[in-house]
Amino acid sequence: MGMNRRNIGLIGSYNQRINYHIADNKLATKSAALDRGIPVPELYGTVEHQFQVSSLDKQIQDLDSFVIKPAQGSGGKGILVIVGRNGDRFVKSSGVTISYDEIKRHVSNILAGLYSLGGRNDVAMLEALIEVDPILKELSVEGVPDIRIIVFRGVPVMAMMRCATRVSDGKANLHQGAVGVGIDIGIGQAVAAVQHSTVISKHPDTGIGFYQLEVPFWSQVLRLAAGCANMAGLGYLGADIVLDRVRGPMLLELNARPGLTIQVANQAGLRHRLAVAEEIANSTESQEEKISLARKAFSASDRALGQLTLNIS
Ligand SMILES: Nc1ncnc2c1ncn2[C@@H]1O[C@H](COP(=O)(O)OP(=O)(O)O)[C@@H](O)[C@H]1O
Ligand SMILES: [Mg+2]
Repeated sequence: MGMNRRNIGLIGSYNQRINYHIADNKLATKSAALDRGIPVPELYGTVEHQFQVSSLDKQIQDLDSFVIKPAQGSGGKGILVIVGRNGDRFVKSSGVTISYDEIKRHVSNILAGLYSLGGRNDVAMLEALIEVDPILKELSVEGVPDIRIIVFRGVPVMAMMRCATRVSDGKANLHQGAVGVGIDIGIGQAVAAVQHSTVISKHPDTGIGFYQLEVPFWSQVLRLAAGCANMAGLGYLGADIVLDRVRGPMLLELNARPGLTIQVANQAGLRHRLAVAEEIANSTESQEEKISLARKAFSASDRALGQLTLNIS
């Protein structure tokens, strides 16, 4: 499936413009999620106006680790991940340290819209650092991996785990140099991996093979992603889920226009899967059943074959 078809066919007909705002603004996403009891990383605070930047020290004085990001950013742009302190300096995930003045300048740039959609003025969010599940540490270097799930009419159709690399600077966005690992919808195991559009099999920094990857809490992850799609009122979206060591699966953000590299990472096309998902969505209203049918339909493994017998071909 190419760009035009995505824009005209799917996003146009299933996503009503009025529902975009929940996905396009990370603060709106967070508050909608909290209203519904969907777990999200804790929001420590926000900075909305330039004059507040000088008092940022009060907000961060008791924090050893935190993340600063633009509410309307995308692609990992403008995200600063601070994992600790060293004297009066702040340590990034790479180990590189920065000063308080640099952090203030960064926040000021966020407010000016440097990293945001259309260059509009923005709000800076101060968020809790997610702690990587130890099982995933060697597959995602110096950064938290996230799991992108494409959901169409409540049916999970394709999934990819994005793993950080040394060059991606604490972020798991593909354009920052992270690796996309296609995940079998049925069983949560790796299918194939891609970095900068090239298929690879091992993590470029650790040499650990991606074939070992089996996403923990897979059923919960699928359920959470589908729940987020319902919450946003979008027929087609990408839900980004993270696994916190202590709190488990959480919603990180939603994308109303998810990218298409997920197809390369899965060595599979979206078009066919969407046609199948449409039949699943037409056959049942039950969210649980949509997930079970999707796990069966979109898996290469016979482990995913449950007792369900509905024939969707
Ligand atoms: N609270 C956080 N803790 C740790 N890492 C984070 C946090 N928020 C974002 N990141 C890292 O940055 C990446 C991008 O964050 P995200 O909120 O999805 O913004 P974007 O819209 O720019 O993709 C994530 O995939 C993750 O690797
Ligand atoms: Mg993201």
